[in-house]
Amino acid sequence: MQATAIAQPNIALIKYWGKCDLGRNLPAVGSISVTLKDLYTEVSVTLSSDRLQDQLLVNGSENLPMLARISACLDSVVGENRARALIESSSNFPIAAGLASSASAFAATTVAAASAANLNLGTDELARLAGLASGSAARSLYDGFVELQNTAETISVKSIRDTESWPLQVVVAITEVGPKATGSTEAMEISRATSPFYDSWIDQQEQDLDVARLAISQQDFGSLAAIAEHNCLKMHSVMWASRPSMMYWNSATMRCMQAVRQLQEDGHRVFFTIDAGPQVKAVCVSEDVDAVAEALANTDGVREVMTSGLGHAARLVNPS
Ligand code: PMV
Repeated sequence: MQATAIAQPNIALIKYWGKCDLGRNLPAVGSISVTLKDLYTEVSVTLSSDRLQDQLLVNGSENLPMLARISACLDSVVGENRARALIESSSNFPIAAGLASSASAFAATTVAAASAANLNLGTDELARLAGLASGSAARSLYDGFVELQNTAETISVKSIRDTESWPLQVVVAITEVGPKATGSTEAMEISRATSPFYDSWIDQQEQDLDVARLAISQQDFGSLAAIAEHNCLKMHSVMWASRPSMMYWNSATMRCMQAVRQLQEDGHRVFFTIDAGPQVKAVCVSEDVDAVAEALANTDGVREVMTSGLGHAARLVNPS
């Protein structure tokens, strides 16, 4: 009754922000992401009938704040009358700081829990279950460029381009370590209830998805860069105009964006994207990865730079 799975975080190029059904955690908009290769979360789930309670260890330490969400994820995968579990998670990047750690953690937990309980679930079902726990986690069940489509009833996720045919790189500039001020579920609801820009954000998402889908299919970096930056800044405008205002950036975040602008002026093919946290993800073509990593590492306030290619779907490490 033990299984270990590994999942990579994914970075949204066209963002998910807002839910249309809180209970079923259904996103109000579709999204497009890239799954990373070199950052990962590994999760072991051990189900045991002798155990009285679930226990979560994150990087070796007991983690109570995340336990309720992880237990709920196990309930939805295995069933509420399941044996209690020891869940051991480790990541090679900072957690809970806008680096999509919940995506890789819940994707890996879902895959490990299903296997530990001897359930033979297909990828679509695993994605649906991971998405119940964290909307973006559904995308980490697929590799390369991934589109999540929302319908009123459920989600559907698929890989729309493999990594080999367009091997972009992502440079992550870490500007601050530590948990984010407002969790994304709460922040999305504040945006829905109070942001004057929320409705236009929802209305315009289909056209942004169309542009990005075409750019990805034609390998048109310039067009993808323009729509991804626009979509990211639009999402943050929704957050900034919410009441209370939610501002996830710090001054180093801004300096990184300026560094990317300078790189673009110098002819490098790179664009930025930022999620609900202060880290900047710079997506670039392989030829430009060294220049991008160097520029961001030399940007005042950047603590660390991590580089990743595009990679794999969540998978089992040791099937039980
Ligand atoms: O999956 P959640 O609830 O952590 O929401 C993720 C939201 C963003 O990272 C800001 C955007 C996205 O599409 O990943």
